[in-house]
Amino acid sequence: MLSTSLSAAGSKSAATLYSPPNFSGLSLHLFDSQLRLPSLSTRRPCRAVVAMAGTGKFFVGGNWKCNGTKESITKLVSDLNDAKLESDVDVVVAPPFVYIDQVKSSLTDKIEISAQNSWVSKGGAFTGEISVEQLKDIGAKWVILGHSERRHVIGEDDLFIGKKAAYALNEGLGVIACIGELLEDREAGKTFDVCFTQLKAYADAVPSWDNIVIAYEPVWAIGTGKVASPQQAQEVHAALRDWLKKNVSDEVASKTRIIYGGSVNGGNCAELAKQEDIDGFLVGGASLKGPEFATIVNSVTSKKVAA
Ligand code: PGA
Repeated sequence: MLSTSLSAAGSKSAATLYSPPNFSGLSLHLFDSQLRLPSLSTRRPCRAVVAMAGTGKFFVGGNWKCNGTKESITKLVSDLNDAKLESDVDVVVAPPFVYIDQVKSSLTDKIEISAQNSWVSKGGAFTGEISVEQLKDIGAKWVILGHSERRHVIGEDDLFIGKKAAYALNEGLGVIACIGELLEDREAGKTFDVCFTQLKAYADAVPSWDNIVIAYEPVWAIGTGKVASPQQAQEVHAALRDWLKKNVSDEVASKTRIIYGGSVNGGNCAELAKQEDIDGFLVGGASLKGPEFATIVNSVTSKKVAA
């Protein structure tokens, strides 16, 4: 039972969206904020074929953000349709809302569609928002929530993001649940605290973990070309899985995909994919180039021979 109070975020509503998130008053007594991981070589026995701690299928999402035109998206879809993609990967792309219909009707059905955001409850008088019901109506299967650009540019807080995740899951959309620390958090040694707090906000809200993929995206690595090293990413992914094990269940810890995002590209994906707790990627800039995105999807092959 996750009963830790998140009172700092708990009283906020959608109407206070624009206040920046404040982690300072959070009660973290359930977390081991001094978590130190045992050396990786002693954590699990080495597996014979696949370097994968979790049991879920490799998952790669392309987050197109606020990019593209009808013309450029036609080309991107055509490149994706022509690409040879490994079959044992769940592949998802997240076009801007206004192009979802175009993409859905022209893209191979081997790739599923995600939205980049959704409204927190049933649609209605919410100017400028898009509801989960509408997303399902046009064929989206997933939604990205808690992305750092929504947290830190738009000002969405943990409680609001948790509510959005719960609503989307209850209505049958899969959720790509993003978390990640700022550079200043990392430099202050607060990476685990921040990530656990954000993860706990999802854990407190969601009805089940069946349809959630966690995306660990250090904010300092997003769109900066400064990718986390495979060791840095692995360390956080392993800590997140341990958190799920201690605070949710063994089953959820092993079956939930934990994907990495932040300057992933065709050149660095293979080394990252070899890490045993990296179950895939959320890709921004490099997902706008079909052949490079295909290379990232196909990095699953380096995972298979890594152990
Ligand atoms: P990036 O973005 O790959 O361009 O760093 C990742 C993301 O924001 O999901």
